[in-house]
Amino acid sequence: MTNKQTVIVTGGCGFIGANFVRLLIQSGAYNVVNLDALTYAANPLSLADLEGHPQYTFVKGNITDRALVASLFEKYQPAGIFHLAAESHVDRSIVNAEDFVQTNVVGTYTLLEAARAYWNSLPQERKETFRFLHVSTDEVFGSLGPDGWFTEETPYAPNSPYSASKAASDHFVRAFHHTYGLPAIITNCSNNYGPYQFPEKMIPLMILNAISGKPLPVYGDGSNVRDWLYVEDHCKAVKLAFEKGTPGEVYVIGGNNEQKNINLVHKICDILDEVAPPAEVPQLHQQGLKSYRELIRFVTDRPGHDKRYAINPAKIRRELGWQPEVGFEAGLRRTIDWYLHHPEWVDQVSSGAYGEWIKKNYAWREAKEAK
Ligand SMILES: NC(=O)c1ccc[n+]([C@@H]2O[C@H](COP(=O)([O-])OP(=O)(O)OC[C@H]3O[C@@H](n4cnc5c(N)ncnc54)[C@H](O)[C@@H]3O)[C@@H](O)[C@H]2O)c1
Repeated sequence: MTNKQTVIVTGGCGFIGANFVRLLIQSGAYNVVNLDALTYAANPLSLADLEGHPQYTFVKGNITDRALVASLFEKYQPAGIFHLAAESHVDRSIVNAEDFVQTNVVGTYTLLEAARAYWNSLPQERKETFRFLHVSTDEVFGSLGPDGWFTEETPYAPNSPYSASKAASDHFVRAFHHTYGLPAIITNCSNNYGPYQFPEKMIPLMILNAISGKPLPVYGDGSNVRDWLYVEDHCKAVKLAFEKGTPGEVYVIGGNNEQKNINLVHKICDILDEVAPPAEVPQLHQQGLKSYRELIRFVTDRPGHDKRYAINPAKIRRELGWQPEVGFEAGLRRTIDWYLHHPEWVDQVSSGAYGEWIKKNYAWREAKEAK
């Protein structure tokens, strides 16, 4: 550990966490203690290059483990905590919400109690600067009609077990601020995309299915709308909220980038047609594909599928000076390029048969680049 400020990050081996830990370390201002249980959604490879880095410490453990969490506060005396660890996949929460309640609700409560005990023990000036930054989602607000946006004033109306568990965690964070004065801040962000996202989520799923000639499943008629933000822009907003935000406040974060699911899938197909044309991909020869769009299949809609999410990020823009830096086309191209060039990462998160097809289907690109 160096003599910079030390912070705890939970869930640093997940999608947003890995991008976030990297941002904190690269900023040069922080020592990071990453607490992660390494569930199926984690990939230690995402941060493998930070192993042994003087600003980085990894602790494998569960946020519901009160003794462990308390010992980390005691040992590292952090200036704050960024709480990202969560069960995050809506479809999984529909099958079974038990882990969502444990991690998202009980885990958040456990962190809050440990943070409160630690915060109470701090001298006044460190008490004033300590922050508990809770990373949440716009899904807690439910679904929008064709018009309007979510703001910090939007009432909560979660529709899935995932969003219900996140909503509960937000309420506990709010209550710990109002009841005990814990300097907590909540951020609610729209859908993120970018490198290191587990391939069960929409964008990586479409990219990886496409290059292996598998169907591209689109829920319902594809008209659901999501407001997409490049993950690095989200990470910068979270860092800014921690450094400049006001305790007790909520900041909603989004890129003003609404896309219908079907349009997004079309965009992915069109970029792939350009950078990895099906005619040049050996495993696709037999299928005789001319465009990846031919792989699109509409499938039965997800139960309770929210129609539209959109964020009005005026407050964080106005009060903290945040704005997204990566445009959608550029971000999508970067993301596609990243997945095409990191087969070992994809392989690591994929086990058994899934890993096998990934290996097989990536062979074409390696052969092409070796020429
Ligand atoms: N992905 C998005 O589009 C999005 C948008 C807005 C907000 N969020 C929020 O951001 C946070 C991170 O999301 P993500 O997409 O990176 O999630 P993710 O599923 O990719 O990663 C979650 C990480 O948390 C860890 N984890 C899970 N349960 C744990 C536990 N009990 N103890 C310790 N670690 C545990 C996992 O091992 C994994 O590394 C979540 O709180 C999510 O609700 C995500």
